Amino acid sequence: MSQDYIVKDIALAAYGRKELDIAETEMPGLMALREEYGAAKPLAGARIVGSLHMTIQTAVLIETLNALGADVRWASCNIFSTQDHAAAAIAAGGTPVFAIKGQTLEEHWDYLDKSFQFPEGANMILDDGGDATLYVLLGARAEAGEEIIPVPESEEEVVIKAQIKKRMAQSPGWFTKTRDAIKGVSEETTTGVHRLYDLHKKGQLPFPAINVNDSVTKSKFDNKYGCKESLVDGIRRATDTMMAGKVAVVCGYGDVGKGSAASLQGAGARVKVTEVDPICALQAAMDGFEVVLLEDVLDSADIFITTTGNRDVIRIEHMREMKDMAIVGNIGHFDNEIQVAALKNHKWTNIKEQVDMIEMPSGNRLILLSEGRLLNLGNATGHPSFVMSASFTNQVLAQIELWTKGEDYQPGVFILPKALDEKVARLHLKRIGVKLTELRKEQADYIGVTVDGPFKPEHYRY
Ligand code: NAI
Repeated sequence: MSQDYIVKDIALAAYGRKELDIAETEMPGLMALREEYGAAKPLAGARIVGSLHMTIQTAVLIETLNALGADVRWASCNIFSTQDHAAAAIAAGGTPVFAIKGQTLEEHWDYLDKSFQFPEGANMILDDGGDATLYVLLGARAEAGEEIIPVPESEEEVVIKAQIKKRMAQSPGWFTKTRDAIKGVSEETTTGVHRLYDLHKKGQLPFPAINVNDSVTKSKFDNKYGCKESLVDGIRRATDTMMAGKVAVVCGYGDVGKGSAASLQGAGARVKVTEVDPICALQAAMDGFEVVLLEDVLDSADIFITTTGNRDVIRIEHMREMKDMAIVGNIGHFDNEIQVAALKNHKWTNIKEQVDMIEMPSGNRLILLSEGRLLNLGNATGHPSFVMSASFTNQVLAQIELWTKGEDYQPGVFILPKALDEKVARLHLKRIGVKLTELRKEQADYIGVTVDGPFKPEHYRY
C-alpha cells in the first residue's frame, strides 16, 4: 500500500518514541484507561478523525484510542503546533497522520480532509476548536446548494471554501454521506464548544457532542495550570527576554487568562489585566492584578498577551501606540484576537521560526509571536503531559460514551457526568503523592452526599 501519512521526517520516529515513553509516565489517566478497557476494546469499530495539536501528549492519546480498539486518522488543528518527532512516531506505528510544523493553510485543510479518508468512512470526530466538525457540516450544506461563507473575511475562509469545492468535485455527495455516518463529536476547547452551542441553537448540529472543555478536570486544569506553565515557556523560547520587572498585560481573565497572569507573575513580571466581564475583572483585582483599559497601558507595557477567544482584541490602532520592541502574542485558540492581517503591509523581519519583528510607521518595532496563533504551542511545546493526561482522559471517556451509548443521545451538546470528572481527578492523585481523606458515613449523610461521591452538586463552581 502507498504511504498513508504526511510528516516532516519519518526518521524522527525513534526520538519521538523516547519522548512518548517518558510522557506515558506522566499521563496516569490515559495509562489507567488502557488497563481498565484494553481487553474489552469498547472503541472497536470506531473510526475516529482526530483534529488536535499533533504533540507528544496527543501521541499518547492516539495510542490509547488504538489500545481501546479504535482506528484513528489524525491532523493537527493548528499550522504551528505539530511536534514533528511525535507525528513521525505515530506514522511509524502505523496510524495515518497528516501534520507538519509550519504547514501552509492550504496544506492544513488538505490534511484535515485526508484525516477523514478511512476506506470505510469515518464515524466519529475528536475535535479541538471545531475545524473537523465545521468542515463536514459546511461541506454538507454546500452539497445541499447553500451558499457557504458568501463573503470570506479572512485568508483562511478563502482556503476552506476552496478545499470544500475540491472535495465536492472529487467525490460528489461525500460530505453528506460523511455527516450522516458521524455518531458523535467530542470537543476539546472553549472556542470549539462555543461553535457547537451556536450550531445547536441554529438547529445545525445533526449529532450529539460532548463538551470535554467544561469537565472540571479539563478547563480548571489544562486551561489554567497548563497555561501557567506553557505561556512563559513560549515567550522565553521565542525571545529569551528578561521577564522579571517587565510590565505584562493579559487581555481576558477567564481560565486561560488566570493561568497566563499567574505564569507571568511567577516569572516576576508586573501583570495588568483587561476584562469585559465584571465578575472576572473583580476576580483579577482581588487576585492582586491591576485591571486596566488596554488603551491606557499601550505605551508603558512590554508584553501583551490575548487570552479571550474573542476577535480584534489587540487592533492595529493599539499596536501603533506600543513602545519599541513590545512583545505581542496570543494564547487563545484562533489567530483573530490580534489584527495580524492589518500588519501585512508593514516591514517584517523574520528572526527565527514563529518569531517576527515588525516595523511600525513610527519606527517602533514589535516582536510578534507565532503570527498571532497560539504561542504556547507555536513557540514552545504546549502544556506538560501531566495536565494533558487529565484533558485527554476526559476525551477518551467521551469517545467511549458516544460510541457505545450514542443512540441514547439526541443531537445536542452534553457534559460528562460528575462521577467521571471525579474519576479523572482520582486517577491523577497517586502520581503526585496526594492522600485523599475518606468521608465517614455520618459525615457524608450530614452534607448530603455518598461516601464515594459525587462530592459536589452540579451547580458547584470549583
Ligand atoms: P473563558 O471564556 O473562560 O475566558 C475568556 C475571557 O475573556 C472571559 O472572561 C471574557 O470575559 C474575556 N473577554 C472577552 N472579550 C474580551 C475583550 N475584548 N477584552 C478583554 N477580555 C475579554 O475562556 P478560556 O477557557 O479562558 O479560553 C480562552 C481561549 O483560549 C479560547 O479560545 C480557548 O479555546 C483557548 N484555549 C487555549 C489553550 C492553549 O493552550 N493555548 C488552552 C485552553 C483554551
